[in-house]
Parts: sequence; C-alpha cells; structure tokens
Amino acid sequence: MAANFMPPPATVHQAVQPLAFLLGTWRGQGEGRFPTISPFAYSEELNFSHSPNKTWKLNTNQPMHAESGYWRPQIDGTIEVVIAQSTGLAEVQKGTFDAEQRIVKLKSALVGNASKVKQITRVFKVGNEELSYVVEMATNLNDLQPHLEASLKKI
Ligand code: HEM
Repeated sequence: MAANFMPPPATVHQAVQPLAFLLGTWRGQGEGRFPTISPFAYSEELNFSHSPNKTWKLNTNQPMHAESGYWRPQIDGTIEVVIAQSTGLAEVQKGTFDAEQRIVKLKSALVGNASKVKQITRVFKVGNEELSYVVEMATNLNDLQPHLEASLKKI
C-alpha cells in the first residue's frame, strides 16, 4: 500500500469538544500589570487551533503524537527549543545550529511531567531537498537510543 502523505481531516476530539468554543483566531487589546512593573497596554492575536505539527498512522489515518514549540536561536550558534507534547510532556532542549551545514543538534536540559522519559535528543538536517530528523530517548528502563527517524519533503 502506498504511504499516506495526506493528513487526516481536523476533527475535534470528543474530550476537547467542551472547549471548542475557544477555537479560532482572536484579535484585540489587553492590559498588563504587576506590583514590580509599570502598567502597560498591548495588542494581541491569539490562535487556538488543532496542532500545527502532527503525525498520523500510515494505514488508518488515526492521529498519533503531536507537539508545538518555540525555537530560540542566539547569534553565537547556540539554541534553546521549548516544546509542549500532546502527551502532556514538556521539554526544554539546548544545543547548537549550523546554518551552512543546515543542521541543528539538541539535547534535553529539562523533561517535565513525564512518567517514563528521562532524556530526549533531537538532530535535524536539511539536504537533498529533504528535512530528516532523529529523535533518541532514554526512559526509566532503557538507555538513550533512537525512537524516531523521518524524512520529510517540503510541500
Ligand atoms: C520526543 C517525542 C516522543 C517521546 C518523548 C515519546 C515517548 C514515548 C514513550 C515513553 C513510549 C513508551 C516506551 C516504553 O514503554 O518503554 C513511546 C511509545 C511509542 N511512541 Fe513515542 N514518543 C515521542 C514521539 C512519538 C511520535 C512522533 C510517534 C508517532 C509518529 C510516536 C509513536 C509511538 C508509538 C507507536 C509507541 C508504542 C506505543 C505502544 O506500543 O503502546 N512517538 N513513546
């Protein structure tokens, strides 16, 4: 059977249905304050959506793991990445990037809210018009070793 490269249609999971009233892109203004700072006004665009990064089963199209995060590169070539996973696990990754070699290497500085996972490393490479990555993890029972390897084409 041919690999399934089409994502499943975005449907709201039954458990999330009561929160569906939040879905959408909202824009407006707010005010901030705290005893230690001067009050401030701000504008905001807030988007509640189905996860922008997602995986699904090859044959059945069923949703699998999803995650979302922020990439925080510094000019010295170091980078911090903060990731929230659909499983509830939270990750802070630290590492380096090389724009010429098109590679980012990350190692977890923090894995939180995880029952089994102790460490996660991630390496991303872009070459031959493909983005490939390897995710390794260590758990309470297994040493650091590959959990995921993938090659993705830009669409
Ligand atoms: C950094 C991201 C991820 C972490 C930390 C993670 C963590 C885990 C852990 C702790 C387990 C259980 C291992 C054990 O019991 O010893 C597991 C199993 C599994 N993971 Fe992940 N995972 C990640 C990403 C993914 C992704 C992206 C997918 C799918 C594309 C995936 C699919 C699976 C599957 C299919 C299993 C086996 C489930 C089972 O047999 O019950 N994982 N993962």
